[in-house]
Amino acid sequence: KKVVLAYSGGLDTSAIVPWLKENYGCEVIAFVADVGQGAEELEGVEEKAIASGASECHIVDLKDEMVSDYIYPTLKTGSIYEGTYLLGTSMARPIIAKAQVEIARKVGADALSHGCTGKGNDQVRFESCFAALAPDLKVIAPWREWDLSSRESLLDYLAERNIPCSASATKIYSRDANAWHISHEGGELEDPWCQPSDQVWTWTNSPEQAPNEAEYVTLNVVEGEVVAVNGESLKPYDCLVKLNDIAAPHGVGRVDIVENRLVGMKSRGCYETPGGTVIMAALQAIDELVLDKSSRKWKEVLGGEFSHLVYDGRWFTPLKDSILAGAESLSKLATGEVVLKLYKGQVTAVQKKSPNSLYSEDFATFGEDDVYDQSHAEGFIRLFSLSSRISALTKK
Ligand code: ARG
Ligand code: SIN
Repeated sequence: KKVVLAYSGGLDTSAIVPWLKENYGCEVIAFVADVGQGAEELEGVEEKAIASGASECHIVDLKDEMVSDYIYPTLKTGSIYEGTYLLGTSMARPIIAKAQVEIARKVGADALSHGCTGKGNDQVRFESCFAALAPDLKVIAPWREWDLSSRESLLDYLAERNIPCSASATKIYSRDANAWHISHEGGELEDPWCQPSDQVWTWTNSPEQAPNEAEYVTLNVVEGEVVAVNGESLKPYDCLVKLNDIAAPHGVGRVDIVENRLVGMKSRGCYETPGGTVIMAALQAIDELVLDKSSRKWKEVLGGEFSHLVYDGRWFTPLKDSILAGAESLSKLATGEVVLKLYKGQVTAVQKKSPNSLYSEDFATFGEDDVYDQSHAEGFIRLFSLSSRISALTKK
């Protein structure tokens, strides 16, 4: 019997390898998704997996595909979960699950396993994707079965088996990183009355530490995708990496929220999405120019729905295709150039233009114009408010 485990090299998945072998009598194949979490996390991961007892380790580079096929489609809908969360962890889960299933097919595995706890969203996301892509494969979720509930017990478990592990007993936070964001949960953050300490944040400067000089960055957008940063054409993943580097020192992209998990509880999370926050601001600035009122309102509906779809792990569904088709057609208009100002934790679009802009100074001006006849407004308002008039007259 063979199990493919979504392996990260952290303490939990290091213990899961021997646990699966002992409790299921199976061979364990480690699968590592490179979603841009960084060299530090990936370094020596294969050796670690083998040292834990995995028979093979497959590292799959998903960086470009994640940005092009998961992040950008989501961005084109304007999705922001509960008004604040840019969905960094949520968007990565379907592509990781899909690649894991592909490895399982390649090695002829009978089961899939992951290191998510039984209390979170991620278990639902992974397993919903598995259900859609590989309903025949068994799913093993050790966290829902074993009684190793603390870091100490996991470390003891590994020590008893002479499995080396560099993890410490005192790691405070649960973090998840990819090219788009890093999340932080746990520790003092579990108390929403407690301000995050400086140790929480790992990518961005605080606004206090940020430079006193503002920095300006120019983005070129073609049909809803950023194609150039400061005049340099880059592929989507490289744009994101570059914008992370530019925005993080300015403290851009920090959020600190209490969110509703799919499993019912509320949880507190701190997220850092520096480049993503800049991209989102640029796309919103273009939408301001190119979308008429009804189209913008429709996009709000699409984004509202899609944010829940992504958060809830319902990627491989017909609803995903339907909403994305709608968002894709609106984003055909989203071409233009935006200059953004980065300063002390804030990003502001200060200059914007588009060949599809509906903005007309001739119409909007407070000064003289010769295109708009103000007397036309009277008839418009009379009909627009006719039902109110009739209702009030009827009541009289
Ligand atoms: N609360 C966020 C979400 O559900 C982040 C989850 C972080 N996951 C993790 N395994 N550390 O998308
Ligand atoms: C976990 O519980 O495994 C991480 C947090 C989450 O999935 O929401």
